Amino acid sequence: MGTIQKMINISRASVRFLAPSLNAQWTGMLNRSCSSSSSEKQAPNPSMLRHLVSKITATGPITVAEYMREVLTNPVSGYYVKNDMLGADGDFITSPEISQIFGELLGIWCVSEWMAAGKPKAFQVVELGPGRGSLTSDILRVFGQLQSVLCGASVSVHLVEVSPKLSEVQAHCLAGENTQVCVSDEESVYRTGTTHTGVPVSWYRRIDDVPRGFSIFLAHEFFDALPIHKFQRTEKGWREVMVDIDPDKPDKLRFVVFPAPTLASTTLIQADEQREHVEVCAEGGVIVQNLATRVSEDGGAALIADYGHDGTKTDTFRGFRGHKLHDVLEAPGSADLTADVDFSYLRKMAGDAVVCFGPITQRAFLKNMGIDTRLQVLLRSCNDSSTRAQLVHGYNMLTDPEKMGHRFQFLSLLHPSRLAQPKEENGIMMKRRRNGTAPLTVAGFTELGLN
Ligand SMILES: C[S@@+](CC[C@H](N)C(=O)[O-])C[C@H]1O[C@@H](n2cnc3c(N)ncnc32)[C@H](O)[C@@H]1O
Repeated sequence: MGTIQKMINISRASVRFLAPSLNAQWTGMLNRSCSSSSSEKQAPNPSMLRHLVSKITATGPITVAEYMREVLTNPVSGYYVKNDMLGADGDFITSPEISQIFGELLGIWCVSEWMAAGKPKAFQVVELGPGRGSLTSDILRVFGQLQSVLCGASVSVHLVEVSPKLSEVQAHCLAGENTQVCVSDEESVYRTGTTHTGVPVSWYRRIDDVPRGFSIFLAHEFFDALPIHKFQRTEKGWREVMVDIDPDKPDKLRFVVFPAPTLASTTLIQADEQREHVEVCAEGGVIVQNLATRVSEDGGAALIADYGHDGTKTDTFRGFRGHKLHDVLEAPGSADLTADVDFSYLRKMAGDAVVCFGPITQRAFLKNMGIDTRLQVLLRSCNDSSTRAQLVHGYNMLTDPEKMGHRFQFLSLLHPSRLAQPKEENGIMMKRRRNGTAPLTVAGFTELGLN
């Protein structure tokens, strides 16, 4: 098997962005050793519908943001809180689940940013919304191979995860049996563990709870899961779209346009907005501000990867269930809800304390980080024809412009000092950076021990 240490076995899966042509059936995909199989199908969730109906009956129509927050992260019956929705038996699949190369390249990015920052002794890797833990697992495997580079660094992993169910899956993936649940609900750290290589892992519900210090933050398909507000331009000005009970069918929900301005409709729309319909993820804006503050004050970097746009799209709110598009108001709690990330909004909210690069396409990012070299290295050490085919298939899926290559975008937030240190030997990751230090690529790290 050579260096291909992890396999996934996905017989059927779909990606989560709006690309019906991609909802193809896959056979014999890579098989990850740390994937947990879930045969539970997400059943309709009548308690969530009842909860929403009584809430709306009591208080009137709720914002789409409140609807999304309740449906996805309600502590009792939220979609993320109760389910392992990733992979063949779930509702969608993501890049880290498709190919180990994705996480390996992000691992290289992390090490490269740490090196560019002067190799600080304490090195926190913070992942927001880690899903099954596959991305962090692949990153730590790279770290394990680059011990000579990381020599002496005190690496720790910090996972921000709202779902107890997924935190169990992550713990199993990263720490096996070596994990403990913290008993008090008041604890900011609700779970701890240690990987087999001795890296401490901690779980938090909110980014505010993650300890301060030099950190590399990663958010892959996290921002698209955060609640959005929806607004419609009307003759009377901007009005917020709300979720109400259908007066003809008391067990059905419907969208309504609120007749009067709301706090959100008066504060979240840009004065020069040209679109007729707008989605704003205020929670995402707050989180990006938090990341920017931490990166500028404590050192480090943040990488946000998601499907999205640059302030151009309008109605992107959609649901996924069983690898198919799903009506967002139908059987709430039984399907994933998502909206495209507005990267222009995130850049704006990041402010001037950090330097933003991107968004650039996933294809450009992975190519610049050396995905072609990495694929060749893996293929060279692999004799099994089906594994080789799977590696190539994963590569195509991640980089093909018609598949995930152009739909997914990468935005990085860097410490301003990164602009002041041009270095000859560094690679070419983000070409928009004129004078700054770009990360080393696979080629450099292969020489340093990556196999
Ligand atoms: C679409 S999944 C992506 C998983 C993983 N990053 C991947 O790419 O495979 C979204 C992840 O974010 C978590 N999540 C969603 N909303 C969250 C919130 N408000 N706070 C923390 N985690 C959240 C979910 O539980 C899940 O782990």
